[in-house]
Amino acid sequence: MDQKQSTPGQTPPIDVVIMAAGKGTRMKSRLPKVLHRIAGRPLLQHVMDTAAHLQARKVVVITGHGATEVEAAIALNTGAEAHFSIECVRQDPQLGTGHAVQQAVPALPDDGVVVVLSGDVPLTQADTLFHLIAACEGQNLALLTLELSEPTGYGRIVRAGPNADGAVQAIVEHKDASLAERQITEIYSGIMAVPAAQLKRWLARLDNNNAQKEYYLTDIVKFAVADGVKVVGYKIDDPVQVAGVNSPVQLAELERAFQLQQAHRLMEAGVRLADPARIDVRGDLLCAHDVSIDINCIFSGQVSLGEGASIGAHCCIANAVIEAGAVIHPFTHIDGEGLGVTVGAGALIGPFARLRPGAQLGAEVHIGNFVEVKNSTLAKGAKANHLAYLGDATVGERVNYGAGSITANYDGANKHRTVIEADVHVGSNCVLVAPLTLGAGGTVGGGSTITKSTEPGALSVARGKQVSIANWNRPVKKPKA
Ligand code: UD1
Ligand code: CA
Repeated sequence: MDQKQSTPGQTPPIDVVIMAAGKGTRMKSRLPKVLHRIAGRPLLQHVMDTAAHLQARKVVVITGHGATEVEAAIALNTGAEAHFSIECVRQDPQLGTGHAVQQAVPALPDDGVVVVLSGDVPLTQADTLFHLIAACEGQNLALLTLELSEPTGYGRIVRAGPNADGAVQAIVEHKDASLAERQITEIYSGIMAVPAAQLKRWLARLDNNNAQKEYYLTDIVKFAVADGVKVVGYKIDDPVQVAGVNSPVQLAELERAFQLQQAHRLMEAGVRLADPARIDVRGDLLCAHDVSIDINCIFSGQVSLGEGASIGAHCCIANAVIEAGAVIHPFTHIDGEGLGVTVGAGALIGPFARLRPGAQLGAEVHIGNFVEVKNSTLAKGAKANHLAYLGDATVGERVNYGAGSITANYDGANKHRTVIEADVHVGSNCVLVAPLTLGAGGTVGGGSTITKSTEPGALSVARGKQVSIANWNRPVKKPKA
């Protein structure tokens, strides 16, 4: 990708460094920490999305622990990074955050402003970073800070002046802080915006003479002060935006925070949620007006809900288009991965229905309890209300498909299609051995195993004839010996 050149008067280009080399011991997981997921997406991907919102020119990811896996995950992704060039740089061994950013130096053009982010801090809003970048003004060192009543563990923002509320003088890491410094409640979030050329000069001066024998990125603050460069603390009051993930508990906390944000966005758009604390959206959920969603529903991938659609409790819906006025009753499972699923206008689905990839249901279709539909098209008004399977089928308008009936679409080697023309009535417990066509308006008697196509309008029955023997004497129990 070509690199934009900064010209006088223009805001400099933004390059992002994402630190992601740390171990994440407390996750107790084989998966590298930054590949754990929030809302179905790796933490690192959330950070990349933020970089995309910033219209970053370049993103440099510092990898270390699990580098191969992290780099493979980045290479696989076809989403946000399409907008910027991306480079992975290894940090091995990991000698601290300053050492991490030192590894990125050769990859960073001198003319940009560098925004330093962490791969395990997923929920920073682009708007916040725009403010931070504005505070940098292409020449200052801008630090994102936060007031915390419980600041233990964090780097403290040391300010000048008799009331310690003047210009920023330094960041002191918790382990290096004096008792007095530990009383400071303004902390460094781990996020900064800094002109690349300055950053490079300061990084070259870092040492590891500190409590942790690490190269601290935060030490550049004192170099900036010494060089007469203005250090700006941009303070926010939303801890979620700078919260890192170090443990499964923190991962779950951020998941809830993220889901609640999404729930509020949906409600602001007019969606009625029975309980904003009980919905999970792992992807993009697009809703028209007057949609209502009951508790404990999970939406994954790309889902759209048409005007007036109603989703019952406990539904899992992935990669599907639900058209206007459709009603999805509770405990319905819809997964359109690959071929997609469409539920037509005014259709009634469930409870306990299962729609698999390629289920294309027309308007006013009814799919009832324990009915599975896969790779099948059902035309307007077709019904399969109980305990049935439709796989690789084309079903005409107004077809009534009886309880317990199945398409035997798989012969053990190949799949075959079943065509059921308009107005056919399939009785209960039928086996339709594909490939075959049931002619329009025909009837299949209950319990039939149909192996050949049937004529339009015909009644087809394929089962043992009923035999009745009059006055049948049932066996009786023998007397005990
Ligand atoms: C750092 C800051 C601290 C701040 C805190 C906010 C330093 C020295 N301290 O603390 O002031 O309050 O963040 O959370 O910067 N990483 C690497 N390579 C390394 C070390 C770390 O890539 O050698 C990565 C980690 O994977 C993580 C990020 O850098 O994503 C921050 O590291 P972490 O150990 O969490 O930060 P602290 O040093 O605790
Ligand atoms: Ca740490």
